[in-house]
Amino acid sequence: MSSKISLTRYLVEQQRIDGHIPSELRLLLEVVARACKSISQAVNKGALGGVLGTAGSENVQGEVQKKLDIIANEVLIEANEWGGHLAAMASEEMDSIYVVPNRYPKGEYLLLFDPLDGSSNIDVNVSIGTIFSVLKKGNDDPTTAEPVCEQDFLQKGSQQVAAGYCVYGPQTTLVLTVGDGVAMFTLDREQGSFVLTQEHVKIPEDTKEFAINMSNMRHWDEPVKRYIDECLQGKEGPRGKDFNMRWIASMVADVHRILTRGGVFMYPWDKREPNKPGKLRLMYEANPMSWLVEQAGGAATNGRQRILDLQPGHLHERVSVILGSKNEVERVTSYHTKV
Ligand code: AHG
Ligand code: MN
Ligand code: MN
Repeated sequence: MSSKISLTRYLVEQQRIDGHIPSELRLLLEVVARACKSISQAVNKGALGGVLGTAGSENVQGEVQKKLDIIANEVLIEANEWGGHLAAMASEEMDSIYVVPNRYPKGEYLLLFDPLDGSSNIDVNVSIGTIFSVLKKGNDDPTTAEPVCEQDFLQKGSQQVAAGYCVYGPQTTLVLTVGDGVAMFTLDREQGSFVLTQEHVKIPEDTKEFAINMSNMRHWDEPVKRYIDECLQGKEGPRGKDFNMRWIASMVADVHRILTRGGVFMYPWDKREPNKPGKLRLMYEANPMSWLVEQAGGAATNGRQRILDLQPGHLHERVSVILGSKNEVERVTSYHTKV
């Protein structure tokens, strides 16, 4: 008999033994995982499946949408709309919220996602992924509640009840938290199921590796310039050690590396669009990743505040992101706050 633990068994045990999640949330997460499996199939087919290239449209951020951005968005909507666990969904690729149609039963959860993260890497066969976050609609009783609206989604990241991502790389790996640490599941393609391959993920508190898009250096704020400059001085500088750098340009892949071996990831505010707080999206990218990182013993701030404490003002809000190994994140944050 195999001692492998499937995602299904892990979730059942989270529900039954540990009482961490209600059955509706367990079933919802199973559906999200199934959708990720379909997206993984499409990603793997690449040019053979006609999924590469642009779709010829733009999203609400003014970014050109790739075919896979649209495909992944549709897969997630179609998989999740009929199950009866959700009230509505929100996506980086949709201007406004998607309310579960009246022909389906409604539930109390809200699902948010970045259907395809790392779009610029799709056509060049580099790791990409899906990021998701689950919130609970304020009023628990779906029969008496007001119709769901955008306001219901505007909850702090600390209110999330589940968060995760699926990275489509050399392996397809689903990474999940329901508030009881971080677990990783590798897709077994022969069996068609996600198998638990790491539990109690822990990010080392110290690191010698940073991830930032260095081409934006001239636009950065002083605290970020100072931090990176000190890293670059290596052994001879104030840090007294040499640093290594990685930038994959897929947040999922960069965060996956950090959860695996530590590091600090930064997409800070910069002067290119001074009125916008950063590039990454609070609700679809920063909140779920920050919760995963904190659950693994790391930290996540916008340079001044814990990301999970930020009150979102609107659905597509952007945010400055500094996350990863605790001591490095605290150092960068202190450079912003102690002048
Ligand atoms: P998306 O593909 O969902 O728009 O996200 C891309 C994000 C993130 O994954 C990555 O860290 C960053 O944008 C890369 O940005 P640059 O191309 O500016 O380096
Ligand atoms: Mn993204
Ligand atoms: Mn995306």
